[in-house]
Amino acid sequence: MRNVEGIEFISNENARKKDHTKSPVEFISREAVEKVRNFHKTFPEYQLTPLHSLDELSKKLGVSSIWVKDESFRFGLNAFKVLGGSYAVGNYLAEVLNVDISELSFEKLRSKEIKEKLGEITFVTATDGNHGRGIAWAARQLGQKAVVFMPKGSSAIRLNNIKKEGAEASITDFNYDDAVRLANKYAEEHNGVIVQDSAWEGYEKIPTWIMQGYATLIDEAIEQIKDQGKDKPTHVFLQAGVGSFAGSVQGYLAAVFGEDRPVTAIVEPDEAACIYKSVKAGDGKPHAVTGFMPTIMAGLACGEPSTVAWGILRDYADIYISCPDYVTARGMRILGNPLAGDPKVISGESGAVGLGILSLILQDSSLKEISKKLNINKDSRILVISTEGDTDPEGYREIVWEGMCPSA
Ligand SMILES: Cc1ncc(COP(=O)(O)O)c(C=O)c1O
Repeated sequence: MRNVEGIEFISNENARKKDHTKSPVEFISREAVEKVRNFHKTFPEYQLTPLHSLDELSKKLGVSSIWVKDESFRFGLNAFKVLGGSYAVGNYLAEVLNVDISELSFEKLRSKEIKEKLGEITFVTATDGNHGRGIAWAARQLGQKAVVFMPKGSSAIRLNNIKKEGAEASITDFNYDDAVRLANKYAEEHNGVIVQDSAWEGYEKIPTWIMQGYATLIDEAIEQIKDQGKDKPTHVFLQAGVGSFAGSVQGYLAAVFGEDRPVTAIVEPDEAACIYKSVKAGDGKPHAVTGFMPTIMAGLACGEPSTVAWGILRDYADIYISCPDYVTARGMRILGNPLAGDPKVISGESGAVGLGILSLILQDSSLKEISKKLNINKDSRILVISTEGDTDPEGYREIVWEGMCPSA
């Protein structure tokens, strides 16, 4: 027996309607993203992350292709997040230096001459782990300081990985959204620079850079698919916390492919489904989920949608799915135990939910309505993004070895 309890969805009947009042996506056009990728390419650690083709799984599930973009290989940090943090920090420094980021390589930014010009800067942020590690990494590489606040219940391993990058880091008594407010206050009081991966009214410039930074990964994936001699995906599954990641990819797809863009599904943990809740409210405004958000998907345990991402997800995404933890646990197990001939992918709790829900949609007839809405069929070419590896290795083994969050 398969468990499909607790999965809910809402489809967006306006996603494909032409409407000039839709949120602008030009900031994430191919041209804008080219500039981002050029900056990332100046990092010695830069290389394409793998795009795995799960041919056996796609045969078993009855679709043409399933690709997994594997962000566990990103800059040796086990998650995609550094793409956003590094680009935002780079842009911030470019602004201080009064130059365009295209004139700045990573090497130049870490030069003695530039460091002397910049003086000491403290970057401050709140994080479930991945974003803070990316900021700590970028700050250290550039000879600057980072202060990182984590929500209550954060993993000690994730905390230590941030400390290992030289940051001052601590686990607070707050949920994610209150930890963000604490970080903001700390930055104001200590003359620091808040580099947050979520936007709110009056704080949009840096989160917009972060979203642009994330787009390197979808730009790579589209190029990698083309290099395999295949057409672009017909469907893309995107997991959301505050929605910056999903909004970035969604914005890119809308800007680059227009009406011809892939069908997108936004996937969230049911305990922190703030995008789903906002869509359901039906007034076009973002709505928060408050309190403690008990989900194994720590990276997605965010209750307040980013104001920049929200408009894009509201206007262009095709379906919004809220699902319990067993869905991502299933995705982690499938990816870690592939069919013979398929590559193995180590995907963490926040990384595997796209594949988890896809597998259930295709295998369980009670979810037929979702696949019908998405128009998934034997010709579908589906992209999911594993945004992290086993960033909490003990938690990973609890699920994959010990069977925590069973499917049945
Ligand atoms: C691994 C992973 N995937 C996805 C996300 C979701 O990103 P966002 O909060 O921008 O929606 C996060 C956020 O921290 C994450 O760590």
